[in-house]
Amino acid sequence: MKKILVTGGLGYIGSHTVVELQAEGYDVLVVDNLSNSKEEVKARIEDISGQSLELQIADINDTNALESLFSKHQFDGVIHFAAHKAVGESVEHPVMYYQNNVSGLISLLGTMEKYGVSNLIFSSSCTVYGAATDLPVTESTQIQKAESPYGTTKILGEEIINDFAKHKGFKSILLRYFNPVGAHPSAKIGELPLGVPNNLIPYITQTAAGIREKLTVFGDDYNTEDGTCVRDYIHVVDLAKAHVKALSYCDKMSQNVDVFNVGTGKGNTVLEVINTFEKVNGVKLNYTIGSRRGGDIEQIYADTTKVNNLLGWSAKYGIADMMKHAWAWQQGLSD
Ligand code: NAD
Ligand code: UD1
Repeated sequence: MKKILVTGGLGYIGSHTVVELQAEGYDVLVVDNLSNSKEEVKARIEDISGQSLELQIADINDTNALESLFSKHQFDGVIHFAAHKAVGESVEHPVMYYQNNVSGLISLLGTMEKYGVSNLIFSSSCTVYGAATDLPVTESTQIQKAESPYGTTKILGEEIINDFAKHKGFKSILLRYFNPVGAHPSAKIGELPLGVPNNLIPYITQTAAGIREKLTVFGDDYNTEDGTCVRDYIHVVDLAKAHVKALSYCDKMSQNVDVFNVGTGKGNTVLEVINTFEKVNGVKLNYTIGSRRGGDIEQIYADTTKVNNLLGWSAKYGIADMMKHAWAWQQGLSD
C-alpha cells in the first residue's frame, strides 16, 4: 500500500482529495496546522471513506515536525495543499503570504530531499495566466506577472519546484486549478469560508441561506454573452480525482516536472451560475448588478486536452451538480 503525505489535508480541496485517495487504496497521512480548517473534518472524512486517517497537527514551516514525520514514515509521494489563499488578504499581508506559501514549500522540499522522497503534486492556479487573450488557455500560454502577492506565490512555487526537480530523480506535477466549487455529494465535507466570502459560490449559498442580504454581480458590461465574467468552474470532487491520477502519472513520466490545467474546459457567466443555482435548487436569489470589481479578468477557461490525454482525467460533474452540492453543504452548515 502506497503511503502519501497530504499537507493541508483538512482544508477544502485537501479533504476531498484524501477521500479519493483512501477510496483508491492509498494510505494517507495528513499534516495540517488548522489555520483554515477544523479538526472535526478528520472524522467527517473517516465517515465518508469508512477508514481511519492519520493526522499530525503541525506547521509545515516547522522543519523539526516535518523531519519527525519523514523519519517515522516512508512516503511514496506528497500532495501539497497547505498555503494561504485569500487574494485580498495577501495584498494586505504580503510577508505572511510569502512566509507561509513560499517558505512552507521550501521547508517541505528540503525535507523531501533529505529523506529521498520524490513525487510531489503542487496546487497551482489559473491565476498564473493573468488576463490571457487567447482562449482557452493551454499549459503553454504565457505566464503573466501576478496581480497579487498570492498569485506571485504560485508563480514562485512553480519556479522553485522546476529548479529543485533538476535534482536527479525528483518528479513533480503542477496542477493549475481553475475555479474549484461545490462540495462532496454526501454534504459531509465542503468549503468553510471565514467571514464574508469573496468568492462567488459561497456568497451565493450564504445569500440563499439568509446570512448575506444580497449578492452583487460585479459588472454586466463585459464583452461576453450576457455581459458578466466567464470562469471555468470545476467540481471539487473532480478536482480531487485529478490528484490521484497525477500521483500515478508521476511514476510513469519521463521528464522531471509536468504541468496540467484542471478545469472542465467550459466557461460559464456569473448570470448562468446564478440561474442554474436558482433552477436546480428551487431557490430565488436576491441579487443586483453592481460595478466591476477591480482586478477581475473578463474571461478565462481551460484547454483540457493535455490533462484528458495524459492523465486520463476529465470532469464528470457539470455546473448543475456543482450548484446542487454547494447548496446541500450550505444547508447542513446552517442547521
Ligand atoms: P484551504 O484553506 O481550505 O486549505 C488549506 C489547508 O492548509 C487548511 O486546512 C489550512 O489549515 C492548512 N494550512 C495552511 N498553512 C499551513 C501550514 N503552514 N502548515 C500546515 N497546514 C497549513 O484551501 P484550499 O481551497 O483547499 O486550497 C488548497 C490549495 O489549493 C492552496 O495551495 C491554494 O492556494 C490552492 N488553490 C486553491 C484554489 C481555490 O479556489 N480554493 C484555487 C487555486 C489554487
Ligand atoms: C478568485 C481569485 C483567484 C483564484 C480563483 C480560484 C480573486 C481576485 N481571484 O478568482 O486568484 O485562483 O478565485 O478560485 O479573488 N463575483 C460576483 N460577485 C461576488 C463574487 C464574485 O459577481 O460577490 C464574480 C467575479 O467578478 C468573477 C466570478 O464571480 O467574475 C468568480 O469570482 P471568484 O469566485 O471570486 O473567483 P475569481 O475572481 O475567478
